[in-house]
Amino acid sequence: MMGSEKSGSTEVAELLLTAEIYNRNESLNEDDLPPKIRKHYFDPAARGVKRPIYVTIADVEKIYGLEDVRGVIKGLPFVYLEEFGSQLRLTVFDLGAKWFANQKSLDLIKSNPTLSHFYQNYDSLGVDYSESKKANRPRFADREWIDAKISELTAEVKDSDEVLKLVQIRSPEDIRDRIEDLVLTEEQKSEIAKAEKAIQHRDYLREVGLREIGKLLFVGGPGTGKTSTARAISHWLGLPLVEVRLSMITSQYLGETSKNIDKVFDLAKRLSPCILFVDEFDFVAKTRTSDEHGAIKRAVNTLLKAIDEVSLVQDGVLLIAATNHPQLLDYAAWRRFDKVLSFPLPDKDMRRRILDKVLSKIDTRVDTDELAALTEGYSGSDLRLVVREAVLNALLQDRTSLDQGDLLRAVEEFERRISEHRRAVPS
Ligand SMILES: Nc1ncnc2c1ncn2[C@@H]1O[C@H](COP(=O)(O)OP(=O)(O)OP(=O)(O)O)[C@@H](O)[C@H]1O
Ligand SMILES: [Mg+2]
Repeated sequence: MMGSEKSGSTEVAELLLTAEIYNRNESLNEDDLPPKIRKHYFDPAARGVKRPIYVTIADVEKIYGLEDVRGVIKGLPFVYLEEFGSQLRLTVFDLGAKWFANQKSLDLIKSNPTLSHFYQNYDSLGVDYSESKKANRPRFADREWIDAKISELTAEVKDSDEVLKLVQIRSPEDIRDRIEDLVLTEEQKSEIAKAEKAIQHRDYLREVGLREIGKLLFVGGPGTGKTSTARAISHWLGLPLVEVRLSMITSQYLGETSKNIDKVFDLAKRLSPCILFVDEFDFVAKTRTSDEHGAIKRAVNTLLKAIDEVSLVQDGVLLIAATNHPQLLDYAAWRRFDKVLSFPLPDKDMRRRILDKVLSKIDTRVDTDELAALTEGYSGSDLRLVVREAVLNALLQDRTSLDQGDLLRAVEEFERRISEHRRAVPS
């Protein structure tokens, strides 16, 4: 085998070329760096990657998990090591660029916008910079970026510690929910696709004066996937998620509620682009009808006003609210959303597909069609519970494979628990 093909050499070359191209080219920014490189060089104080990027042996080891970097570079004639500081450099850039182009590492180039920017005019590699940029996760999806932004806010904004206690902020990379794991209706899929387009074309929508876009209300019974979908959208779109429960904002200090609402919306605008997810939205409605406290009435009005004043097009905040009890919402709250998206109980076909997904990683020989037929009225969350029971019961018998009997028994058990619950809590 030729020395140049030693494993790890394309990685070393990728990093050196990326650094060099990035350093030379002021028009490239952090969104042009692949996340693993960007995260490594991220400077929290600058909330970005400062030029020039230097490459040391330790950098290569850390970013790619490589060990024998010194051994690797021996096979690369265009790389030299400055012994002092163990910094790596390209001797002749063109030599490195040519070598890299010959490495059949097209996928590496395509997933690295900085490299694509350089290689798109190179020979006939067929690389498209704008495509590779579109596919690259932007910096504001990184945990590092959000942490830096939060600590900047904490330093700048009075009482920001207090607001941070009211919300949960997650970076897309920390979110485990995935769109692919959810069985969605056609309407749900199409609304998610529209939100994605609206975010991509914010400037255009502003130009044509369509500002009332990007406020969604998720309506559906418990366990129908509202929270999971909001989180999965955050991961899918690469937007940080600011999650707030209205009951949390309100319960403790009634007099503070209005202020808290303003602070949460303000936080979301400062964190923009992001998704502001307001769960338990019906809480507004509950208090609107049974209200002796002026404070609550004020809080509700503050909330409605805050919703009016936040905009995806203007502020980069996609607002998603969720409720279990749509009948509690009056028109004043309802009309503020440009889309009320329904989360129905899954029909038979959806139930089968949910079961198939939940069971996909489990060793099973089951007929999900039959199970779907037996589980009318079950939510996605109920179906997950059934599978969990079946798995645990099998584990009790030291089994990790499930058959139809295991699942049928779990369904029976679930039915029994439901009827006990109905006896205990008559509706
Ligand atoms: N359509 C679905 N497809 C796949 N999984 C689902 C679906 N609906 C619900 N689930 C699963 O059920 C669980 C509970 O869902 P989730 O918490 O999102 O429901 P919810 O609508 O927010 O409920 P609640 O109103 O009680 O807050 C999650 O693990 C979720 O993945
Ligand atoms: Mg929920």
